[in-house]
Amino acid sequence: MADDRYVPVFNWPIGELTLSERTKSLAPLWEHIAPLVQPGMRALDLCCGSGAAAFRLEDAGAAVTAIDSSPLLIGEARTEAARRNSAVEFIQADVLDYRFETVAWDLALVLGNPIIDFPPERFGG
Ligand SMILES: C[S@@+](CC[C@H](N)C(=O)[O-])C[C@H]1O[C@@H](n2cnc3c(N)ncnc32)[C@H](O)[C@@H]1O
Repeated sequence: MADDRYVPVFNWPIGELTLSERTKSLAPLWEHIAPLVQPGMRALDLCCGSGAAAFRLEDAGAAVTAIDSSPLLIGEARTEAARRNSAVEFIQADVLDYRFETVAWDLALVLGNPIIDFPPERFGG
């Protein structure tokens, strides 16, 4: 049965952002990201959604922090993290306000173009 829940920030259907769908749609991109990942590096996945890229980064050996404002998508990511005994730190928060304890990252990803959803007034324009 189709899943017609919506992710509130920008009204995308959850169906396109589920972990299984994003794992498939991000697959062609991974060959470009994989060479950037070294075991032990600290990686940040901004606006991580359901965690598809975060889990791939972890599988490649990175220590991953991932953040998204959607409780629905972070919930899916955390459920999967528990299932696979993942150490990815999933944070549910607005990236525009969140104060990270870590201030240096080896790699930061922003996939799926979430920046178009940021309120223009937050850029001081
Ligand atoms: C198109 S989805 C991409 C998700 C993920 N990066 C991926 O590639 O599967 C955009 C994501 O940005 C998140 N998002 C949008 N604005 C945000 C904000 N201000 N803070 C945190 N997350 C945000 C949404 O909740 C959504 O999960």
